[in-house]
Amino acid sequence: MSTLLEILILAAGKGTRMRSDLPKVLHKLAGKPLLRHVTDTARTMGASQTCVVYGFGGEAVPQAMADDKLTFVLQAEQHGTGHAVQQALPVLADDSVTLVLYGDVPLTRAATLQPLVTAAQAGKLGLLTVTLADPTGYGRIVRVDGQVTRIVEHKDADDAERAIREVNTGILAVPTARLKRWIGRLKNDNAQGEYYLTDIIAMAVADGVAVETHQPAHDWEVLGVNSKAQLAELERIHQGEIARALLDAGVTLADPARIDVRGTLTCGRDVSIDVNCVFEGRVELGDGVHIGANCVLRNVRIAAATKLDAFTLIDDAQIGEANKIGPFSRIRPGTKLARDVHVGNFVEIKNSQIDDGSKINHLSYVGDTTMGKKVNIGAGTITCNYDGVNKHRTVIEDEVFVGSDTQLVAPVTVGRGATLGAGTTLTKDAPAGELTLSRAKQLTIPGWQRPVKQKKEA
Ligand code: UD1
Ligand code: CA
Repeated sequence: MSTLLEILILAAGKGTRMRSDLPKVLHKLAGKPLLRHVTDTARTMGASQTCVVYGFGGEAVPQAMADDKLTFVLQAEQHGTGHAVQQALPVLADDSVTLVLYGDVPLTRAATLQPLVTAAQAGKLGLLTVTLADPTGYGRIVRVDGQVTRIVEHKDADDAERAIREVNTGILAVPTARLKRWIGRLKNDNAQGEYYLTDIIAMAVADGVAVETHQPAHDWEVLGVNSKAQLAELERIHQGEIARALLDAGVTLADPARIDVRGTLTCGRDVSIDVNCVFEGRVELGDGVHIGANCVLRNVRIAAATKLDAFTLIDDAQIGEANKIGPFSRIRPGTKLARDVHVGNFVEIKNSQIDDGSKINHLSYVGDTTMGKKVNIGAGTITCNYDGVNKHRTVIEDEVFVGSDTQLVAPVTVGRGATLGAGTTLTKDAPAGELTLSRAKQLTIPGWQRPVKQKKEA
């Protein structure tokens, strides 16, 4: 049986270069705080405990992550990575292995971390390193005869050590009992006056513990965020990876560089997505769905063969098969569209159920409405669902025809097969099968003249 895994995430740093009041690890990548990317990875690795060391920003970090079953340890003053680990030692179990991650390094994959954990479970120290063209600023991996002997920080390194291009990513895994002993022996007699976690490498070597190094599959897996520029860079890398996965799954993307997924996007076969679309939360697209340019979809399920035209916004809704929606449609929470529904330009629908084959093609507001099958809503129709205090429902039964520029003052019901004349303000129920209209009688004033402009007196 393998030893229990505990994951320790260092997240106490201020992140001065972000130039923000928000703690660095709460800045968002793909719509999710940097730290949550790391805790989500921790969860997939089956850690028995995930512990976050926080500091800058006070309780903002624990508050933002409250739902995540994490252990929080405060590092009130930041005296280095070794000092940060030290704060958490009392909550770590002696018989576990500890994997150290960083709240500002969001994109490391579990597959890259697993070999480090396996090494630690075998009693070794697993260390993630990377070889960089420009290693400036990083801790250098010092090897003798190929074996790692220690890490030297850039500021403490001599010229020969600074020439080393293999650097420390900071990510490592160790048997926890060993970690506790080594951290207790750290000193801060170095260029920065800090307690360096990296000094445990030399201690491991001295204690005869083998140091096993691994490299990430991609360099971006170990990139940290220290500035808005680096955040934007990682966002593009991450979106590029998502786009690549969608292409590999058979999705047609008009331009893989112009899609943003901030959540999970699941696609059926033969889905195509035009440029500049944003997907948030959980979005599912059925077979043959086409999404036009500049659409924004949040928590939406769209069934097969539905087409969205450009500039359509859908939020918390369920869209059935073979619908035609947009351009410029807005579908708001609580809406459910059945089969073959058409929603056209400048139409807003909120908290409404629209049944098969109904059409709302132009300039309408439909809110708190239950609409039957094969209803036709004329241009400029408004459901007046709000009396200034309460919301009321409108019921429109099957095969109703609503003339243009009609207001339905809720609560009101239009019976099956009824017709409402254009311009009607409906305040009482309309009976099934009949024509109902409210309209002043049309009259013509014979010989009426338009006023003429009067000459001003000189
Ligand atoms: C550290 C490593 C260095 C490595 C580099 C990779 C040490 C001594 N050096 O250097 O070898 O190449 O990372 O990026 O470990 N933190 C705390 N509390 C503290 C100090 C830091 O939580 O007291 C957190 C920071 O929020 C940050 C991370 O630890 O996320 C790294 O700290 P930082 O001071 O940036 O270390 P580096 O100097 O970059
Ligand atoms: Ca750093």
